[in-house]
Amino acid sequence: MSIVKPHKLGIIAGPGSEYFTGKVVKHLRRLYLDRYEKLSAALEKRHDMTPEQLLDVVTLNDDLISKKIPRGRRPKIYTCPDFEIPVKYTRFANGEEKAEILQAVRGLRLFIIYDVTNQYPVQIAGSDEPVVLSINDHLMFLFTTVDALRIAGADGITLVLPAYPYARQHKKSGREALTAALFGRMCENMGVERIITLDIHSREIENCFSTTHLENLHASYQALIQLHKLIDFNDPNLVVVSPDTGAVQRNKFYAEALHRPLAMLYKERDYSIVSKDAKHSNIKSISLLGDVKDKTVLMADDMIGTGGTLLIAMRKLKELGAKKIICLVSLPFFNGSAREDFDQAYKEEVFFRIIGTNAVYHDQTFTDKEWFIQADVTELFARVISRLHHGRPLSPLLDNRQFIHRLIDNSQANPQAPLPGSKVAYSDRDD
Ligand code: R5P
Repeated sequence: MSIVKPHKLGIIAGPGSEYFTGKVVKHLRRLYLDRYEKLSAALEKRHDMTPEQLLDVVTLNDDLISKKIPRGRRPKIYTCPDFEIPVKYTRFANGEEKAEILQAVRGLRLFIIYDVTNQYPVQIAGSDEPVVLSINDHLMFLFTTVDALRIAGADGITLVLPAYPYARQHKKSGREALTAALFGRMCENMGVERIITLDIHSREIENCFSTTHLENLHASYQALIQLHKLIDFNDPNLVVVSPDTGAVQRNKFYAEALHRPLAMLYKERDYSIVSKDAKHSNIKSISLLGDVKDKTVLMADDMIGTGGTLLIAMRKLKELGAKKIICLVSLPFFNGSAREDFDQAYKEEVFFRIIGTNAVYHDQTFTDKEWFIQADVTELFARVISRLHHGRPLSPLLDNRQFIHRLIDNSQANPQAPLPGSKVAYSDRDD
C-alpha cells in the first residue's frame, strides 16, 4: 500500500469527540501532503519526470485500485482523501442508544476516536437539546458503533480511547469485579483489533487480552514542551515529587530525564470510604520522603479525578515549604467539584500551574483558566494511526526518550534556545 494515499482508512468520531478527532484528521492530512511533497520531489529527480507526469502516474494507480469507475477530469494537484465517516447517534426516550453508519465502510480499516469520559452536553438525534451522557452511556454508543461497523463489513476496527474506561478497577481486594479487564474482554469479543490509549493507569490491564492489541502512548514529551515554557530545566532547586507510591515510576522517568532528585509522598487510605472530592477523600495520613523546602516542585500523575490526590499532596508540600508547584497530568478529568476546588487552591497560592493534555475534552471556560495549560497530543495520535494503517513500526513513537533527551539537552545547553516546535521535533522521523 502506498504511503502517500490512505486507501481504506476511515476515521469516526464518537459523540463529543469531534474536536479532538478533527485535530487528529487535520494532522493526518498534513502528514500525507508532506509525504507526497517529499516523495514526489525524490521521484521526479530519480525518474526524470515533471510534477505533472508524476501526478498522472499516481492518479492512474489510484484509479486502477478505486472501487468506483473514475469520472471527471484528472486532478491538477495531489489531494488527500477525506477519511471521516459520518455516523448518526440516536438516544431514544427509554434511554436506549443506536449508532448508524452513514457511508459504506466495507473493506475499510476504521479508527473510532472516542473520549468516553466526556462530561459536557453533546448533540445527538432524539433530543432537541444537547445532553450530558454518563460514561456508561458513552460506552453503549461505542459498542453500538463497533457492532454497526462489523455488520457493515469493516475490515478492522481500532478504538482510539485516550482515556481507557474503568482503568482504576484493575485489581481487587475483596469480592469485586475486575472491570478494566471486563471492558477489555467485551471489546475483544466484539472483534476489536486494537485499542490505542494514553498513559493507562496500570500496564497489567494488557494481560486481559489474548487477540486484541493494546498500544499505550505517553504524553511526557508534549507535557515537557509546555513545562519548558514555565521553568528553567537548569534550576538547581527543582525537585520531582511522586504524589504516591503508584506514581513513582512515572515521576522517576521525569527525575531521570531532568537529572533532578526524586522525593515521594506516602499515603494511608481508608478504602471503606469513596472519595468524593478533596475535602471528603479516603486519604487518612500523608508524609514526605525527601526535601521540598524552598524548591520548585514538579509532580506527575496519570489523572486528576476528584482532585483529592493532588490537592492534598500540594497542600502538604506547601506546608513543608515548597516554593512553586507544577503538576503534569495526562488525563485531566476534573470530576465533581474539582474545578472549583482547584480555583480555590490557586487563589490560596497552593500551586502555580497544572499541565494537562487535550485527550480529555474541556470547553474554553476551562481551558482559559490562568492555572491550566493544555498540552496537545493530537499529532501523536495521528502519527500512530498513520503508522498502524501502513504497517510501519510504532516503537519510535512509543519510546519518546530520545526526543525528550534532545529537548532537555538543547535547553540545558542554552535555556533561551527556541523550543523545538512539533514539526521540527518530529522532522527527522520518517513517518
Ligand atoms: C491513583 O492511583 C491515581 O493514579 C490517581 O492519583 C488518582 O486516581 C487520582 O484521583 P483523584 O483525583 O480522584 O484523587
